[in-house]
Amino acid sequence: MSEFTDFVAICKESDINNDEVKEFDFDRNNKFLLIRQNDRIWAVGATCPHQGAPLVKGVLGRGRIRCSRHGSCYDIKTGDIEDFPGLDSLPSYPVEISKDGEVKVRARHKDLNKTRRIKKMSSHNKLDERIFLLIGGGVASATCAETLRQEGYVGRIIILCGEESLPYDRTPLSKVWQVNHQDMELRSEEFYEQHNIEIILGVEAIKLDTYTNTVSCSNEQQIKYDKLFIATGSRPAKLATEGIGYRNVFSLQNFVDLQAIMSVLRPRTNLICTGGGFISLELSSTIISKIRSVLVISHLKYPLEVLYGEEIGKRLLNLYRERGVQMKMESRMKDILSDDGVRVTEVRTTDGYKYPCDVLLIAVGVVPNTDWVIDSDVPVNIDGTIDTDMNLRTPVPNIYAGGDIANAPVLSYSNQRKCVKHYQVAQYHGRIAGINMAGHIQELRTVPFFNASFFGMSFLQAGFGSLHDIFIHGDLKRLKYVVYVSDRDGNVTYVSTCGYDSAVISYCELLAQGKRLHRSEVADKSNPSQWMEQLLDTRRTRCSC
Ligand SMILES: Cc1cc2nc3c(=O)[nH]c(=O)nc-3n(C[C@H](O)[C@H](O)[C@H](O)COP(=O)(O)OP(=O)(O)OC[C@H]3O[C@@H](n4cnc5c(N)ncnc54)[C@H](O)[C@@H]3O)c2cc1C
Ligand code: FES
Repeated sequence: MSEFTDFVAICKESDINNDEVKEFDFDRNNKFLLIRQNDRIWAVGATCPHQGAPLVKGVLGRGRIRCSRHGSCYDIKTGDIEDFPGLDSLPSYPVEISKDGEVKVRARHKDLNKTRRIKKMSSHNKLDERIFLLIGGGVASATCAETLRQEGYVGRIIILCGEESLPYDRTPLSKVWQVNHQDMELRSEEFYEQHNIEIILGVEAIKLDTYTNTVSCSNEQQIKYDKLFIATGSRPAKLATEGIGYRNVFSLQNFVDLQAIMSVLRPRTNLICTGGGFISLELSSTIISKIRSVLVISHLKYPLEVLYGEEIGKRLLNLYRERGVQMKMESRMKDILSDDGVRVTEVRTTDGYKYPCDVLLIAVGVVPNTDWVIDSDVPVNIDGTIDTDMNLRTPVPNIYAGGDIANAPVLSYSNQRKCVKHYQVAQYHGRIAGINMAGHIQELRTVPFFNASFFGMSFLQAGFGSLHDIFIHGDLKRLKYVVYVSDRDGNVTYVSTCGYDSAVISYCELLAQGKRLHRSEVADKSNPSQWMEQLLDTRRTRCSC
């Protein structure tokens, strides 16, 4: 039987314009996108493999389409995933145009009834004795392992994972009330077996010897490597406050932490989250309706004001208060008090107020897990991060670093090094490290992107840089706004939104094309989306980064 179905007539060539995306049914169960660009027509799957968003609502750039929900990016010719989150690619559908201008499309039988396609993976060759060792079992390592196989590497791949579970997406931990580990897992055990990716669970790297190319492990095993990828992620920062070791004090970094927190929450629980960052804000908004009270303690005047300024901060503060979360601003936790010396019962703030507390979450930032690297030849910065070049190489040959621990060049930050702790960046690092470790050359070229969720509403941000000016479009009261943040020179450094996802996705794509946005271009409130036309403009000069 042929690999393909018969061609199906879809529409007339004249029914689709250049730079237009249209969704069609291939048959009852399969939808696809028809995309016309440079007078050629392409067809790829219509559903984002990440979490199922309809890609017809995405943003079309030059040669790729970016999903409007979390920014994953797909090549319009092949359907290959180019930027993340998400792991899989889109099916692509061969297109034929008949002499009388009829557009016909056919599908591969194996793609029917599927919205995702795994890129071709090479098989392990037992005669190839090289070991590529990936330290850390997060998204960066998992993506690196897959990429190695996709890039033709056939030696051994070993992932050393400190946690007891297969690599998973940890971002839902603070966003959903009940999470099941299997639902968060990036790939199944069978997948890793099938592609000969060895995973050692519950074992940590404790020492790196770059002379013998050996990693010593917490189970006394020594693993020799030919190439090494360091992606050990972050752990919650600790406070020196007395009482931090009480039984009902938690932090939230992994699934085990979440299970521990959930096991002590009751409808009568008073929860205190100290720290006003994303984890506190997300978790408190997720949990408020399930327990008696939630109090967030933050040293800032308004939530996230350092990122988005006072106006947005004030709106967020009101939102949290409207929804019943107590917000103790411009204060810090000073004492953790206990009636019995075993459990927290109260928390005292620096301004002398006391609050009842049954469960305390400490969320005051994270530190990189690189202590085990410090005595090696790989330089570790004072903040625990590791510098890399554009290919994620460290200064030591054959050693790469990525994800939360990497101080790596950022495209939208003139390729200056920054440690950007976003899920999408970590995954992208995994891909770039994998490509380069496999012997191909690819430089970093991504725009940092992340999404947060407060009370079930999605807040997106793309870009990175300093804040000098802030420009807000939309209606803050209704929480439908876009905020443009610009630096001293008026360059927009990052854009964030609640309710206008396409603005952030378009900005992300614009920067990815090497273009820039100036504050003056977003000043016209009567035509707030005019700047988006530059996305498909090939004449615009590219920046030098
Ligand atoms: C609750 C929560 C919510 C988040 N939400 C978002 C979000 O909405 N959007 C976003 O962009 N980002 C979010 N993040 C951040 C995002 O998850 C990280 O940026 C991303 O997971 C980093 O990936 P990584 O692979 O570098 O490291 P990690 O995912 O941290 O994985 C590192 C792994 O290495 C293991 N490890 C550590 N030390 C060793 C060692 N010595 N030997 C072996 N293994 C070791 C760790 O146990 C861990 O399993 C969130 C993080 C948390 C904790
Ligand atoms: S659903 Fe498309 S990127 Fe998440």
